[in-house]
Amino acid sequence: MRIILLGPPGAGKGTQAARLAQGQKLAHISTGDMLRAEVSGGTELGKLAKNYMDRGDLVPDEVIIGMIQGRLKDGSGVILDGFPRTIAQAQALDKALTVAGTRVDRVVYFKVENEELVKRLSGRATCSGCQSPYNLSTAPPKKPGVCDRCGGKLAQRPDDQPDAVRRRLMVYEEQTAPVLDYYRKTGKVKEINAVGALDEVYGRLAAAVK
Ligand code: AP5
Repeated sequence: MRIILLGPPGAGKGTQAARLAQGQKLAHISTGDMLRAEVSGGTELGKLAKNYMDRGDLVPDEVIIGMIQGRLKDGSGVILDGFPRTIAQAQALDKALTVAGTRVDRVVYFKVENEELVKRLSGRATCSGCQSPYNLSTAPPKKPGVCDRCGGKLAQRPDDQPDAVRRRLMVYEEQTAPVLDYYRKTGKVKEINAVGALDEVYGRLAAAVK
């Protein structure tokens, strides 16, 4: 299956994508994680992307499409987290999958109110190694400051600062919300309530992709 997880920043896409990838034996592709790996590797792409990311803007479509295209070539099962985020990206994805002889099977929209999103993002800590997300109040690591999965150091993402969070929410409304309408027209969208315990939300997600 080729599944897209769509929703605003902080909706829990990354958290649930990791669980779903394990449960369904699918690859998990997160463009945010790919970009952060480029930034920490100090590559040219990373240097370019960092300016956009830190202030909460989207990285230009041509950069994102160029970065992800190779990963979509064989058309195998995948969970896409954080991509596509613009209509141009959605069209590029359709084109790449058509060339690979496949298509998007399901789009799951994570519904969460803004007040909850701000609360989640301000308490988030992310592993600088494997990128696993934690929350200092709702999902803390076993040992403070250390990732349960890889032992990496936890840190706050620069774009989880209040100004960048406000900007990301605005950018989501302007540029990514239209992607939901794009897919609604295909009849592939299932909306889930993404508020509640992690296991509850996972149950709703698993039912939505069945
Ligand atoms: P990206 O990394 O994709 O960020 P995002 O979409 O803003 O999503 P987040 O990672 O903030 O949230 P999430 O929904 O994954 O939630 P999470 O599971 O972490 O992108 C970052 C930047 O990269 C963009 O701003 C842009 O600049 C660039 N970029 C990336 N892709 C791009 C693209 N395609 N085009 C252009 N630019 C691109 O959870 C959040 C917090 O909530 C955590 O602390 C978690 O523990 C907690 N939490 C999760 N679920 C629950 C729950 N049920 N109850 C309580 N707390 C919960």
